[in-house]
Amino acid sequence: MTEIHKGLAGVVVDTTAISSVDPDSNSLLYRGYPVDQLAERCLFEEVAYLLWHGELPNADELAAFQGRGRSQRTLPEPVVEAVLALPTTCHPMDVVRTAVSVIGAHHPRADDPSPEANLAKSVQLLAQLPAVVAIDQRRRRGQEPIPARDDLPFAQNIFWMTFGEVPDAVVVKAFEVSLILYAEHSFNASTFTARVIASTLSDLHSAVTGAVGALKGPLHGGANEAVMATFAEIGSASRAASWLDEEMAAKRKVMGFGHRVYKHGDSRVPTMRRWLEQLVAHYDRQDLLNLYVALEDAMTARTGILPNLDYPTGPAYHLMGFDTPTFTPLFAAARVVGWTAHVMEQLASNSLIRPLSRYDGPARRDVPARDGTA
Ligand code: CMC
Repeated sequence: MTEIHKGLAGVVVDTTAISSVDPDSNSLLYRGYPVDQLAERCLFEEVAYLLWHGELPNADELAAFQGRGRSQRTLPEPVVEAVLALPTTCHPMDVVRTAVSVIGAHHPRADDPSPEANLAKSVQLLAQLPAVVAIDQRRRRGQEPIPARDDLPFAQNIFWMTFGEVPDAVVVKAFEVSLILYAEHSFNASTFTARVIASTLSDLHSAVTGAVGALKGPLHGGANEAVMATFAEIGSASRAASWLDEEMAAKRKVMGFGHRVYKHGDSRVPTMRRWLEQLVAHYDRQDLLNLYVALEDAMTARTGILPNLDYPTGPAYHLMGFDTPTFTPLFAAARVVGWTAHVMEQLASNSLIRPLSRYDGPARRDVPARDGTA
């Protein structure tokens, strides 16, 4: 009988030159470069260029690339109107998903599948998603939008548009590190979703819209905000072990732990953890780190399951001042680079993605005869 690979676990479906994950050596490379080195040494914009073009930019290439993105940071009015028309009761990822779709509907070359048009669409999405995220967080707080600034690097501009100020360098760097670590991760669920959609020769915005929907789920990107909800529920380090015992007894999953690919620890966690510690020192919030450590210790002692990247980014984004429901949209604002790089790679040597299934429903049977039918 055909072997079933539930959840496609362990199945290699294609090649990619964008990133490689090696769970045995606990490494993640973007185009051959260790992601921890990129995180410590590069701007997010350099890493975006690397993922799209295959090489790090030289100074001139970086300046041209930054200029191209920064000039497109202001959201077209129909997109602002679409964002503001959505109820504040909906999840911010619904807002991101809708905004990507509206941006696509207004793009003059939305259905142009050429690599050059798709790169232009990708640059625009990367430039504009931060404004969507910032406007949405602000409207939920009853605040007016703050116009983007084209004199600021990517990470600083997000702080500017969200809070009207740019924090100290250590906070900006911690944020930039998180964006670089989030930018790409091979055939994860949302990226694979984007590749499936691209493989039908649908358009890039449709692929990204679908990817946003996949990222929203708590087993994927939604875990970073779920981690903060967990911390709020536990309250303090002294309660972590007893809280975990209750969760284990109820057979509930603990968000921010475990990974489909990494079974000996997520390669990105040590880098983000170091920056979380810097944030804890900066904001004088040792209590939060104590809770982080207490839950991690209790979880690893009981299950051996280790934290994934969403575990340190949740509290890091909280310390930076972002509202918890904004965490996954920030992940999307970074991962859009990976999604679009994969859409372009898929189209470069496309084959429709269409797996098989083994039927286990009722055997063949006849529809009961009706009056007048034999
Ligand atoms: N808490 C409790 N038990 C867990 C967890 C967890 N976080 N993760 C795995 N397990 C257990 C699971 O219950 C199962 O136990 P058993 O064999 O007794 O039924 C065993 O470990 C295998 O789990 P699985 O869900 O079958 O394994 P998977 O490879 O499909 O899981 C995962 C990967 C990410 C879906 C899972 O670890 C999980 O649900 N984690 C919590 C959600 C989360 O943090 N997601 C973020 C993923 S990484 C970053 C990102 O994409 O954003």
